[in-house]
Amino acid sequence: MLCLGIESTAHTFGVGIVNEKCQILANEKHMHVTQEGGLIPHELSEHHYQVAESILKKALKKSGKKIEEIDVIAFAKGPGMGPALRVGALMARILSLEFQKPVLGVNHCISHIEIGKALTNCKDPITVYASGGNTQIIGLENKRYRVFGETLDIGIGNLLDSFGRSLGFGFPAGPKIDEMYFQSNKYSELPYSVKGMDLVFSGLLTAAETKIGKVPQKDLAFSLMHTAFAMLTEVTERALAHTEKKEVLLVGGVAASKALQKMLGKMCVERGAKLFVPPKEVCMDCGAMIAWQGIIEFKAGKKHRLSDTTVQQRYRTDQVPIIWL
Ligand code: ATP
Ligand code: FE2
Repeated sequence: MLCLGIESTAHTFGVGIVNEKCQILANEKHMHVTQEGGLIPHELSEHHYQVAESILKKALKKSGKKIEEIDVIAFAKGPGMGPALRVGALMARILSLEFQKPVLGVNHCISHIEIGKALTNCKDPITVYASGGNTQIIGLENKRYRVFGETLDIGIGNLLDSFGRSLGFGFPAGPKIDEMYFQSNKYSELPYSVKGMDLVFSGLLTAAETKIGKVPQKDLAFSLMHTAFAMLTEVTERALAHTEKKEVLLVGGVAASKALQKMLGKMCVERGAKLFVPPKEVCMDCGAMIAWQGIIEFKAGKKHRLSDTTVQQRYRTDQVPIIWL
């Protein structure tokens, strides 16, 4: 069975082709980049419309398959920005109608988890989903992916990118700040803000920004990351303790951070748990993760009529009945 998956929730437009064994035959994407400032929804959709056809063609060529050989089309139904989501949904509907293929809308966050599980072979993890827009600590309970804790304001990647922008770095600044982390071990006091099981990052960002020019950049980068990642690690540890799970799966763009991997890894060793990090290409937003989710949901019997193929900007992780496990 082959699924073609379309990702268009935020800055990335991607098309992936994946088979039943989670072998990735193609995973083509193009990211909308800006010189400054954040993502503007109508600009995103224009970007996606412009690259959609060529990304689709590239993916088919790379896979060596014809569209007629695809068994099911999947797209990211949400969460994300409406205008961007609608480009992916529209392409999915067109392909479905033109080539008479079944079509499915899937949850973007859950797709991160399932492809991460399939590629690392972990079974029942607490997932740390750390990306630009999202920061959630998730675990399976009673056939739902329950969000145990999450950011109440900005995503952790957004925190790093915004701080980087204040230092004059381009987008995304996460990788650069991650390198700086290892050049210092001088901690400058910053606010640590965990509320129950949830996280708040904006006060931390403001406090770090006010120290720019007063504290060396590398010490500030170290302190910002150290604080934010310690907050995330604390909540993850509490989710492990509550659920008695023994695996942690780290996904999302910030999963590439060596500093975060180090901190979570240390906590896991201390608790007798194991940390799993999938390859970077699938940790980032991509079509392959949507395609894999399409395969497992289709095999479990999920069916969509064309009228079901709407998008949902606030499509929550815990809204989805887990029929495939
Ligand atoms: P989502 O739509 O799931 O919120 P996203 O749009 O933020 O995802 P991703 O590709 O998942 O996109 O993540 C991008 C984020 O990852 C950026 O904030 C970037 O700075 C951060 N990032 C990438 N590499 C690293 C790294 N090595 N260290 C820290 N952060 C990183
Ligand atoms: Fe994502």
